[in-house]
Amino acid sequence: SKPLSIGVAGLGTVGAGVLNLLRENADIVGTRAGRHLAVTAVSARDRRRDRGLALDGLRWHDDPVALAADPGVDVVVELIGGSEGPARALVEAALAAGKPVVTANKALLAVHGAQLAETAAARGAPLAFEAAVAGGIPAIKALREGLAANRLSRVAGILNGTCNYILTVMRAEGREFAEVLAEAQRLGYAEADPSFDIDGIDAAHKLAILAAIAFGRPVDLGAVHVEGIRDVTALDIRLAEELGFRIKLLGIARRTEAGPGAGIETRVHPCMVPCDAPIARVDGVFNAVVAEGDAVGRVVLQGRGAGAGPTASAVVADLIDIARGRHTPVWGAEALASIPSVPMARHVG
Ligand code: NDP
Ligand code: HSE
Repeated sequence: SKPLSIGVAGLGTVGAGVLNLLRENADIVGTRAGRHLAVTAVSARDRRRDRGLALDGLRWHDDPVALAADPGVDVVVELIGGSEGPARALVEAALAAGKPVVTANKALLAVHGAQLAETAAARGAPLAFEAAVAGGIPAIKALREGLAANRLSRVAGILNGTCNYILTVMRAEGREFAEVLAEAQRLGYAEADPSFDIDGIDAAHKLAILAAIAFGRPVDLGAVHVEGIRDVTALDIRLAEELGFRIKLLGIARRTEAGPGAGIETRVHPCMVPCDAPIARVDGVFNAVVAEGDAVGRVVLQGRGAGAGPTASAVVADLIDIARGRHTPVWGAEALASIPSVPMARHVG
């Protein structure tokens, strides 16, 4: 059957990873998609930059929003980043035109996800975002599909690869924060503005997306209690270790008890985790996603949470679903509109 024509906006760490993966695994991807997935158009800021990618024969758009109107593009892949600007304009334009969108942009979804979901539903255009949470871990699919029969009480985990990498290397090698952050940036793990990583904002974006799916309603980002790892020192890590604990940046969303205080509590902060707890041994760029359901009990998924290969794996999985006509509505099916988000006054560790 006819190839699926893909327009990719953003050719940085993830965009280049997607083009490379589509080329390297074209055979199995094509078989599983039921047709060839062909990148036909691209956009990035600097047309002359050498990206180590063969871009010959692809249409180049200086303005990424032009991909939405390109009649030769069936599906738009947004890998620019940021909750506003060209990323938002492109996703809105593509959905308004009824084109499926795949994005890895958790900032955009955490801020505008509910409104984008409405446009997607109104236009009948899939909006897929497996790569936006926990890199290569299929956490969105697991929550929405694998755990669909459960009433979930909690979703939590290590949601930022850069922070977990920094904390791991500081502990194992006694190196300084700034030096390890620079290494995470070189490895392509960090956000364009790394304060989003180290101040816990990126983990809060991912937590908001997970909680929205787990609990069936958009989460107010302003109600998420957020603390990052900027002030964690090598001495803190060593002292915690001597007491039998590891410091991990966790994101936690849970249903609070029934009654006047009932709601969804959401928080991101460094935690002291006992060294023998399984999550304490999730190291380096790895993430972990923990979900608790009434039927299944506890489910733990772990894998690489950032970097070109793992993130491209999730983007291409979404493209395969779209090629096959398999896609689920953006947020969970469970309607819990009566449950308010409750702000945390102070975290409880
Ligand atoms: P990069 O900074 O490496 O790449 C961003 C790309 O967007 C670059 O190619 C850049 O162009 C392009 N771009 C920026 N502004 C514009 C613009 N105004 N018009 C056209 N193109 C533009 O980011 P990443 O690849 O790391 O991240 C992309 C997205 O994926 C983000 O939403 C990020 O949060 C998300 N993500 C990243 C992961 C990772 O491990 N890196 C993991 C999971 C999600 P140019 O190259 O010319 O400068
Ligand atoms: N900067 C993010 C992280 C990329 O380090 O986890 C993956 O979303």
